[in-house]
Amino acid sequence: MAFDMLANFRDDLPAAPGAWAEPPDFAFVGGHNDPESIPFTGLAEAAVTVLRREGRNLATYNLGGSPQGYLPLREFVMSGLGARAGMTGSPDQVLIVSGSLQALDLVNQAMLSSGDTVLIEMATYGGMVSRLERLGVKYVGIELDDHGIVPAALRATLADLAATGVTPKYLYTIPTVQNPTGSVLPTERRREILDIAREFGVPIFDDECYADLTWGCERPPSFRALDGDRGQVIYCGSFSKSIAPALRVGYIIADEPVIQQLLALKTDAGTGALEQLTLAEYAPTHFDDHVEQLMVALQTKCDAMVSAVKEHFGDAVHVTEPLGGIYCWLTFPEGTDTASFAAAAAAEGIEFNPGAGWSADPEWGKRRLRLCFGQAAPDTIRAGVAKLAEVCRNNGVLSS
Ligand SMILES: Cc1ncc(COP(=O)(O)O)c(C=O)c1O
Repeated sequence: MAFDMLANFRDDLPAAPGAWAEPPDFAFVGGHNDPESIPFTGLAEAAVTVLRREGRNLATYNLGGSPQGYLPLREFVMSGLGARAGMTGSPDQVLIVSGSLQALDLVNQAMLSSGDTVLIEMATYGGMVSRLERLGVKYVGIELDDHGIVPAALRATLADLAATGVTPKYLYTIPTVQNPTGSVLPTERRREILDIAREFGVPIFDDECYADLTWGCERPPSFRALDGDRGQVIYCGSFSKSIAPALRVGYIIADEPVIQQLLALKTDAGTGALEQLTLAEYAPTHFDDHVEQLMVALQTKCDAMVSAVKEHFGDAVHVTEPLGGIYCWLTFPEGTDTASFAAAAAAEGIEFNPGAGWSADPEWGKRRLRLCFGQAAPDTIRAGVAKLAEVCRNNGVLSS
């Protein structure tokens, strides 16, 4: 009889994903980027140059340098990307990680135990919600408006929790080009939120992985920039959205003792060296121009999606007008469950993210859904949105 290996596995594992399938025609899920904008020529040239110069160092883990990451890349992260968010500091305050997902894992591992409470935004990144679920951590959603977190709601929630003796372990926020709403939190509100966080002694975990793609307004300084040298903020960012998600390179910026402690938890013997070398060679001279061009392409796709939703869904559905990034967030009439038509949409080759998984409260989220416009071409976006509206009409979600 065959040995049952799975019977020897732990019984609290997530469900296995099943066989991988080709993406459908209208793939509006996930955080994919614009294939036409990937700067592969520049990356290839950078890779060749840096490998010729430093390839021997591949013989050593971490290229013979600090396990915090390749120094020229950390320098670019601090003085190039950090500066975009108003931050200053030293490369010793940077930890290169394997995508910002690893940043979420390291920070969670360092800060959270089962039964703890954290604050998240009412609509938020599904990858964080599923992580908190797995860790057995309670999460409380903070109300958002068109600009992001509502400070009065944050204060009220913190006061309620304080009354029951609970201090949340952190406030996780995506303030600049929020996922999924696409809003950007104004500077004054950031100050207000920082004041509230200080009053209640709550750290801020600031995820700015889309912030380099802000086009609808000026990019505000990050919470960490506004916090100065108080040390109440852990910041994370990523090259996934600005360059390419398949590279798996992200970073954490925090005070040195925090970085050192997180480094002790990063037991993967270093983030991919080829990617780090290539980015460090490419980014200082090309990042700004590349991101300018990428934003033009994304804005065209965003306009195509927003106008198609307005045209085909009419007043029944509200669509956000993102100030950057790659997502639109749709709100359907009260009583709708967007998961209810996901299978019918899939049968027509359309994939979207039902809102329940992108919300602190699935009941609140279930009449919402997220569409990614990053990957598909504008014509495909228009055709897919029209088809999705048809699916909704056929399933009684929209009146014909
Ligand atoms: C808010 C947010 N944080 C983190 C991530 C993880 O990105 P990566 O690990 O590719 O940097 C994503 C991906 O979509 C995201 O939306």
